[in-house]
Amino acid sequence: MFESLKPVAIDPILGLMMAFKADERTEKIDLGVGVYQDDRGRTPVMASVKEAESRLMAVENTKAYQGMAGDPEYNQRMLDLLFGSDHSILGSGRIKSIQAPGGSGALRVGAEVIRKARPDAVLWVGVPTWPNHIPLLGSAGFNIREYPYYDIESRRVNVEAMMETLRQVPAGDMVLLHGCCHNPTGADLTKQQWDDIADLALERGFIPFIDTAYQGLGDGLDQDAYGMRMMAERLPELVIASSCSKNFGLYRERTGSITFIAETPERADIVVTQAMSTARSIYSMPPAHGALLVSMVLGDEALRNQWQMELEEVRQRIVSMRHLLCGSLKNNAAGMDFSHIEKQKGMFSFLGITTPQLERLRNEFGIYIVSSTRINLAGVNSNNIGHLTESLQAVLT
Ligand code: LMR
Repeated sequence: MFESLKPVAIDPILGLMMAFKADERTEKIDLGVGVYQDDRGRTPVMASVKEAESRLMAVENTKAYQGMAGDPEYNQRMLDLLFGSDHSILGSGRIKSIQAPGGSGALRVGAEVIRKARPDAVLWVGVPTWPNHIPLLGSAGFNIREYPYYDIESRRVNVEAMMETLRQVPAGDMVLLHGCCHNPTGADLTKQQWDDIADLALERGFIPFIDTAYQGLGDGLDQDAYGMRMMAERLPELVIASSCSKNFGLYRERTGSITFIAETPERADIVVTQAMSTARSIYSMPPAHGALLVSMVLGDEALRNQWQMELEEVRQRIVSMRHLLCGSLKNNAAGMDFSHIEKQKGMFSFLGITTPQLERLRNEFGIYIVSSTRINLAGVNSNNIGHLTESLQAVLT
C-alpha cells in the first residue's frame, strides 16, 4: 500500500536542526531551532531540574499509569505559575487544566476539544506565526484564516491592520495569540494592545486561544503573563496551551498543559472530561517524567528559587546577546538597520536579509537560519560573534 505515498518535505525548523548536526565545519553556528544555548553553545540541564531529577530517582517507587490528566499536583502548580497563585480565576471553579505532551500536544488537545464544542469555528492566526501552528491545528480540522500581525517594513506589530481584521471576526470563532516572546518575530503586544483585543473579544464574541511557550524569557515570569491573566479576569471563555520546554529546558521530555476557562464551573467540569477523552483517543496519557520534575521544582521553595534564578540568567543572557549583535552590526556595510533586535522579546527576531544572503550564510559560512530569516538569539555567544558579524558583513556587501 505504501507505493501510493509521496515523500513529504521535512519540517523547516527540525530539518534545519538535522542539517546543522550533520555539518562537520567547526565554526558553524546554529541560529535555527528554538533551543536555549549558553555562552559556550551548550544546552545544559538546569541545576534545579537536575536536583529534582536526583530526588525523583530516590523517591519514585512506581511507573504505573497516571491517567489521562497526568499528575494533579503538576496541574495545580502550573496553574499557579501561569496565573499567579492569588489570581481570582483559580478559586472560581471555572478553570481546568490537564497535563499534555509538550506545547504541541497541548495545542492539539485544545484544538480537538474546541472542534467538538464548535465544529464550525474558524481559527484566526496571525501572519506570521510559528510555522507548525498551521499543520498542527489544521489537521485537527480547523478552517484557518489569517490576520496581519507583523509589519516587515517598520519591524513592529501592525496594530491597525490587525485590529481592523479582528473587528471582522464573527462570534464563536477562535483567535490564536502568542502569550509572550512572539515566535518568529519577537514583536510582542503591549499591555494596551492586549486590553484592546480583550475589549474586542467581549464586543464581538470571539474566543482567544493563547499559546504560551516562553513565560519568563521576555520580561519576567509575571510580566510575560500579563495578557492571559488579564483575559482570564475579563473573558468568559479562554483556552491556553502552555509549555515547559523552554523555561524549564525540558524540550525532549514533552511537558506542557492545556487549560480551559469556561463560563461556569459546571461547564468547566464537562470540558475537562472532553479533554481527557481526547487525550485517551490520541496518546492515552502524557509522559510523566518532565511533569514530575516541574511539580517538584515548583513545590519546593529552595528549588523554585534556584530555578527562578536560572531562568532569569537565561533571560538576561538573551537580552545581552540582542545588544551585542545589534551593536556589532550598527555600522554594517549595507547600512541596514538592525535596531529592532534590541527592542524585541524572547528568543527570536527576524534578521530581514534576502534569501540569497541567507543561503550564502549557510553554504559559505556554516550559519544556520530558518528561511523566514528568524534567528535564535541564544545561539549567539562571545566566541562566535566575530564569525557571525564578519560573515554577515560579507553577505551584505
Ligand atoms: C521553534 O520554534 O524553533 C521551537 O518551538 C521548536 C519547534 O518545535 O519548532
